[in-house]
Amino acid sequence: MTVVAVDGPSASGKSTISRMLAQRLGFIYVDSGAMYRTVTWKALEEGLDVNDTAQVIAMLDRIRIHFDICDQQVRMFIDGIFPGETVREPRVAEKVSIVAAIPEVRRVLVAHQRSLTQFGSLVMEGRDIGSVVFPNTPHKFYIDANPEERAKRRRKDFEAMQIATSTDGVAQALAQRDKLDSTRATSPLQVAPGATVVDNSINPPERTVEIILEQITRQQRAQ
Ligand code: DC
Repeated sequence: MTVVAVDGPSASGKSTISRMLAQRLGFIYVDSGAMYRTVTWKALEEGLDVNDTAQVIAMLDRIRIHFDICDQQVRMFIDGIFPGETVREPRVAEKVSIVAAIPEVRRVLVAHQRSLTQFGSLVMEGRDIGSVVFPNTPHKFYIDANPEERAKRRRKDFEAMQIATSTDGVAQALAQRDKLDSTRATSPLQVAPGATVVDNSINPPERTVEIILEQITRQQRAQ
């Protein structure tokens, strides 16, 4: 079983890269951010105040989480529902960092993330995949891009969902989320020991994917 860990900040392009990598390798793609978003979506559906940690933890005890595979991608269900693109809505995006900072939420989701190797070899993207979830994988990558590129990417995502935004507003929201993600006490966003940092500001994704694939081949030869 092989795991490729792809970490990095929001809108660095890591989702595009991870999906392409999974396709090229024939591995299953896992978006761990979507798992934190799905728990956040459920809390909002239930009308919970996500700042009230006890309420979120009580919800975690109540819900049933399961996974399936569709088009070589893992989908997370809560109480039998897969919320799909709903988890990308700004109302979820605004709250997800708060939910992702709760240690109990992380403990539960990290255990689920580790269990996904039951489906086969994985490309898993997130913030702590190389540092916490699969620290022993030799294939760890940290995808970064400059703030302007990231704001442009995130704005395009919102446009595709027909959600009106300004580049400044998006840049501010990203900066705020980076701050929360990298300063939280449990599993902050960081470059995992042994990870290869890949700058994805200039290269087209195809080129970044080639660079990563070459590195994986070298790492496999060295094993
Ligand atoms: O990658 P994304 O923007 O969909 O992530 C959503 C949120 O979840 C973001 O605030 C970071 C957090 N996250 C995390 O804490 N750990 C992960 N492994 C993945 C995402």
